[in-house]
Amino acid sequence: MGVEICVEGLTKSFGHQVIWQDVSLTLPAGEVSVMLGPSGTGKSVFLKTLVGLLKPERGSITIQGRDITRLREHDLYEVRKLFGVLFQDGALFGSMNLYDNIAFPLREHTRKSESQIRRIVLEKMDMVGLIGAEGKLPGEISGGMRKRAGLARALVLDPEIILFDEPDSGLDPVRVAYLNQLIVDLNAQIDATFLIVTHDIASARQVPDNIGLLFRRELVMFGPREELLTSDEPVVRQFLNGRMQGPIGMAEEKDAAQVEQELAQLGDAGHTTTPGSQELPPRLLPGPGITRPARWQAIAEREGALRRREVAGA
Ligand SMILES: Nc1ncnc2c1ncn2[C@@H]1O[C@H](COP(=O)(O)OP(=O)(O)OP(=O)(O)O)[C@@H](O)[C@H]1O
Ligand SMILES: [Mg+2]
Repeated sequence: MGVEICVEGLTKSFGHQVIWQDVSLTLPAGEVSVMLGPSGTGKSVFLKTLVGLLKPERGSITIQGRDITRLREHDLYEVRKLFGVLFQDGALFGSMNLYDNIAFPLREHTRKSESQIRRIVLEKMDMVGLIGAEGKLPGEISGGMRKRAGLARALVLDPEIILFDEPDSGLDPVRVAYLNQLIVDLNAQIDATFLIVTHDIASARQVPDNIGLLFRRELVMFGPREELLTSDEPVVRQFLNGRMQGPIGMAEEKDAAQVEQELAQLGDAGHTTTPGSQELPPRLLPGPGITRPARWQAIAEREGALRRREVAGA
């Protein structure tokens, strides 16, 4: 279960504005990857390009042997069914209750009967802890509930790939912790390929198998979380430590001289004694989760975890 996504030499511009260029990475099947980057670096644009909502100028996105940047609209429509997307704003229809919002992709993309739809919708609402809220309108519930409703809707077509755009923004720390556990549990259960865009460094440290960082119109790094979390690359370290000193400025970029000066001022702290970036926090393990349907009797070992052990030769 889960499919690999192979991105090669991808470049996206709007008019003369290059958003990012020459992005290459592979999202391994069944693994959780996180994409980090300062605001405005094109993370949302990246997710929209992966699902084929935006066309890149150059490069390829290969899924199941097909380059989706070259597909015609009809074939693209088929490929999109592989994806579940949780958009940054939840993208729920304001005038529809949660039940109808979550049922929408099933009514739109399948010929399932209303009783089949009902079974699936209630199953997904149960998974994200929303049973009882079927009749609520998006405007009547909290931000956290809206995120979870968006997630339930992203799940109804049993996607092989799930893209999450800032699932944790606007949530309190406890809800973020629950959401992270939910994501890890979901990945263990359905083994789909996950890509999560987030600003939350604690989540980025705990949840993924892989981490990437977009900055200055490029993918600075993408690789196993251990590699990024212990990296000495200045942009990676600044971002993962949430520091002002470093190459990333308020308006995204600083000039080289200023960066040198700041790093000199930081002295050793800038290079060696920031324990946060060198210590490797444990990865969040799948657990019983918020709700645990009877069919989830045994918590399956994650496919990604198995693959990584094989790679390590253990
Ligand atoms: N449809 C579009 N047409 C023109 N420019 C766009 C379009 N969509 C995004 N952009 C531009 O692309 C850049 C990247 O936007 P994007 O929303 O991907 O950033 P982001 O990394 O997701 O930021 P944030 O962390 O704040 O969500 C911005 O400068 C934005 O103005
Ligand atoms: Mg965004």
